[in-house]
Amino acid sequence: MTSLPRTRVLTGITTTGTPHLGNYVGAIRPTVQASRNSQTDGFYFLADYHALIKCDEPARIQRSTLEIAASWIASGLDTDKVTFYRQSDIPEIPELTWLLTCVTGKGLLNRAHAYKAAVDKNNAAGHDPDSDVTAGLFMYPVLMGADILMFKAHKVPVGRDQIQHIEMARDMASSFNHLYGEHFVLPEAVIEESVALLPGLDGRKMSKSYDNTIPLFAPTAQLKKQIAGIVTDSKAPGESKATEGSALFQIYQAFASADETAALAKAYADGIGWGDAKQMLFERIDREVAPMREQYQALINNPAQLDHILQAGADKARQMAVPFIRELRHAVGLRALSSGVATSSAKEAKTAVPSFKQYREKDGQFYFKLVNEQGQLILQSRGFASPKEAGQTIARLQTEGLDSLPDLSSLLEPLTAEDVLNLTTTLSKIKNSQKST
Ligand code: TRP
Repeated sequence: MTSLPRTRVLTGITTTGTPHLGNYVGAIRPTVQASRNSQTDGFYFLADYHALIKCDEPARIQRSTLEIAASWIASGLDTDKVTFYRQSDIPEIPELTWLLTCVTGKGLLNRAHAYKAAVDKNNAAGHDPDSDVTAGLFMYPVLMGADILMFKAHKVPVGRDQIQHIEMARDMASSFNHLYGEHFVLPEAVIEESVALLPGLDGRKMSKSYDNTIPLFAPTAQLKKQIAGIVTDSKAPGESKATEGSALFQIYQAFASADETAALAKAYADGIGWGDAKQMLFERIDREVAPMREQYQALINNPAQLDHILQAGADKARQMAVPFIRELRHAVGLRALSSGVATSSAKEAKTAVPSFKQYREKDGQFYFKLVNEQGQLILQSRGFASPKEAGQTIARLQTEGLDSLPDLSSLLEPLTAEDVLNLTTTLSKIKNSQKST
């Protein structure tokens, strides 16, 4: 058996603030763990173009980029094993953003949560709906789509609030593929359960926007002081306490083993005092963070070293991005006037090899079809509820053939004997063309 291609996992952190425990538990720690798995190919980056959407303080963006890069590395990211870079070092990303902009419905972007929230707020205040809304905020999902599609990511770990953006990236990829041939991989969101769960000092989700965060690499004394400020109820020592709804307990759980968590639950039941519980939390977090703190400080004090690491990462990323953007430019017709025969439409150009096309119809369902190199329809699917089901059916067809599909009539439009013959030839042509590239 040949070895399976590695799953490409990609995620970014927007560089607008100091990394806190929520970023660590939700994004940094899981990506560091994933990067140790030899089955994954990690692409991790500092989303500094995205930062410009929310922040107009240059010094803050620069500082945040430094702090997030240092945090990721101090937390154990092996930058030789993954591709670690700054978004703004990859000029092909804004270039791809434009290509995607041209296949993205404006209506799709109208529905993006962040944009809609801004409009709703303006409407509620009786202002112009787009008052103080930049085109950057409106285009945010397209830039994010370019981040993801540029590197053909399969999995994108994100918080719940970002799921919609991944769905939109899939839409952009399908539209582009439908028009110009199969260039993009359709990405899937991966939700880290603990992301939604880590509460901040006041019990609400830990977030810069609530100003309730605990910085990941605060000096020991500050960490201790902030933990002392976590809200609790007013139960006295000796009174039994509820773990449910306790921010302190939930934060502890995000750092502790199952046994340690069970021990704290017992201590709650036995009436541990809040002061002692806070001490336990402080010690547990400090135990994990202290060994990394020194390296963090060393990196912060040596920004040139980080510049160097990030530049090496950008060079590695651009080894993919440069040829890929060349391919995409060619596909849309931005190509040398002397290259090839000038075919008159994208529809003709895209059928040089037989290929599957995935698309969404007005009925909201997801379809695929197979066309041969002359652009003739070989096979037409029925509607699927999700792009994933359609994609899985294509994958099975390609790897195992027609016989592998149960209940054909519910998946495909009826096939004649001739269709089946055509199908077999076309599938093997696809396989051969994949071997030769
Ligand atoms: N929008 C993401 C956030 O704020 C950050 C981000 C930008 C991102 N580009 C991305 C995450 C691409 C995953 C993939 O959390």
